[in-house]
Amino acid sequence: MRLFLSPPHMSGKELEYIQEAFENNYIAPVGPFLERFEKSVAKFVQAPAALALCSGTAGLHLSLRLLGIGPKDKVAVSDFTFIASLSPILYQGAAPILIGCDESWQMDPNALEEALQKERPKAVILTHIYGQSADVKSIKELCERYGVHLIEDAAESLGTTFDGQYTGTFGILGVYSFNGNKLLTTGGGGVLVGPKELIERARSLATQAREPGVEWYEHKTYGYNYRLSNIAAAIGVAQMEVIEERIAKKRQIFAWYQELLSEKASFMPELPKSFGTRWLTTALFEADPLRILHELKKEKIESRPLWKPMHMQPLCKEFAYFGQKKEEELFAKGLCLPSGTAMNKEDVQMVCEVIGRCLG
Ligand SMILES: Cc1ncc(COP(=O)(O)O)c(C=O)c1O
Repeated sequence: MRLFLSPPHMSGKELEYIQEAFENNYIAPVGPFLERFEKSVAKFVQAPAALALCSGTAGLHLSLRLLGIGPKDKVAVSDFTFIASLSPILYQGAAPILIGCDESWQMDPNALEEALQKERPKAVILTHIYGQSADVKSIKELCERYGVHLIEDAAESLGTTFDGQYTGTFGILGVYSFNGNKLLTTGGGGVLVGPKELIERARSLATQAREPGVEWYEHKTYGYNYRLSNIAAAIGVAQMEVIEERIAKKRQIFAWYQELLSEKASFMPELPKSFGTRWLTTALFEADPLRILHELKKEKIESRPLWKPMHMQPLCKEFAYFGQKKEEELFAKGLCLPSGTAMNKEDVQMVCEVIGRCLG
């Protein structure tokens, strides 16, 4: 491939920090870089506390565990998202209630309200997709009115704000992903943010729930092996140092696409009062997006259809759905375009030329 969708982009400090971890022999899921990484994320998004984990999915799973979600419970979740927003609900034996999107491409508050009235879920998992913010204030207000926990799946939206506040910090718990294709990466990882007391309980659950204060392994409950390693956290510390630069570049790439494709495509909106990172530039075409995808592939350029809505997945056939199925049209017409932060304007021009040729 000449151009990937969103490949890792190192700051240049990663190896130096890894070297430091090696010199101190902190090759373990403990060590000073873990604390530095957690502090840097918490400080950046202005969250009370943060916990570094092996994945964003682990963060969502821990959130449900912490809030006592189990079999017989229902959890409302964005329908237009990646499966990892939903699968932790199944890990807990609970039932997902799928909530469709509105013209913002994000969870529709009206559909959510109907689901809150009819299904009485115990929690809501709200995804902020493609680096853009959902109408999180309306959704939070609804959750408060109906006495439901709000968990934010901000896996794709680290650095995005709504009304000046970072996504991931509106709900009781929020999750960021540091997977290889995200704005920043630890080569696979996630961070859970929330109140100190919950994060301390999550820390225990993420390390097999060993009771403190005794020499032997004492367990009153079961946990998981979900911690990030100190080595991966060293990469994360170096990545957090360039977060502002990376956000500015993602937005620049989006602006180039917008300029060059203005007559050929329409783009994901940015809600008033929000500031998105444009983690991926996503566009809708009047032509079959798979035709464009194959043309790009011939030129060794990676692109991807928009998320296939959860209600269209064979896995989710039996789950309740609220909404207007607007996401079906997005899936039918949309593509994620290469958005790596090492790209320059010539790269974007090349992608747009191929698209232009394909559209005739
Ligand atoms: C919306 C969404 N939720 C959750 C995840 C899961 O994050 P991770 O891959 O770090 O487990 C991802 C990305 O991978 C995602 O895009």
